[in-house]
Amino acid sequence: MTNISNGKKKTKRKPFPKNQINKTVPLSYSKKQHWKGGTLLAPIPPALVTVGTMEHPNVLTVAWTGILNTIPPKTYISVRKERYSYPMLVEQKEFVINLPSANLVRAVDFCGVRSGKDIDKFKEMNLTSVPAEKVSAPLISECPLQLECKVTDTVDLGTHTMFVADIVGMDVAEECINQSGKLEIEKCNLLAFAHGEYFTLGKKVGTFGYSVRKRK
Ligand SMILES: Cc1cc2nc3c(=O)[nH]c(=O)nc-3n(C[C@H](O)[C@H](O)[C@H](O)COP(=O)(O)O)c2cc1C
Repeated sequence: MTNISNGKKKTKRKPFPKNQINKTVPLSYSKKQHWKGGTLLAPIPPALVTVGTMEHPNVLTVAWTGILNTIPPKTYISVRKERYSYPMLVEQKEFVINLPSANLVRAVDFCGVRSGKDIDKFKEMNLTSVPAEKVSAPLISECPLQLECKVTDTVDLGTHTMFVADIVGMDVAEECINQSGKLEIEKCNLLAFAHGEYFTLGKKVGTFGYSVRKRK
């Protein structure tokens, strides 16, 4: 759809391109209920965080995680003091964020409801620990992507302590890298967590900056 005015070509863009409209959800929401503040941000990654060493590893599920800064690349995990993993994080100041595929949903849930003080979660869930490049905590071989992290700051926030960390390395499954060396993230089939439920990501509906990019 194009308009010609002032000698310049203008392209009218529809707010929702047809192929992206999901007819099962409304296009606009007219009435809202106001709720008290809470932790509703969604979707978020339910990460399998590994701590400890190759000899004595542990893994716990962490949903309170995210990216804090680009250069240097920084992340955080927020962990309760009562977790078995907590003193390991405090002492070692290293961890790995393993991003699970949807195939690992049972392991993700299990590692978030059972403690390493009682059982070996790697063994129970058939997870394979492999050495990381830059930190002592292991990678989980079954996860397609990893962020290797070194803690730089801790912030006591209330129920949780936030471990702020430098992302010192990343591990990317070769099966998810194309011939040009680009990560094709859809091949990772990543798992999402939203309001207490696990989801797969669904289909791609755009790429960064596509809304203003000119068609070739
Ligand atoms: C989906 C999901 C997300 C979770 N996110 C967090 C979190 O962000 N921080 C936290 O301290 N515990 C979180 N938990 C709970 C811990 O993973 C759980 O208490 C676990 O058993 C701790 O393991 P550990 O005792 O071996 O360290 C989460 C659990 C689930 C199922």
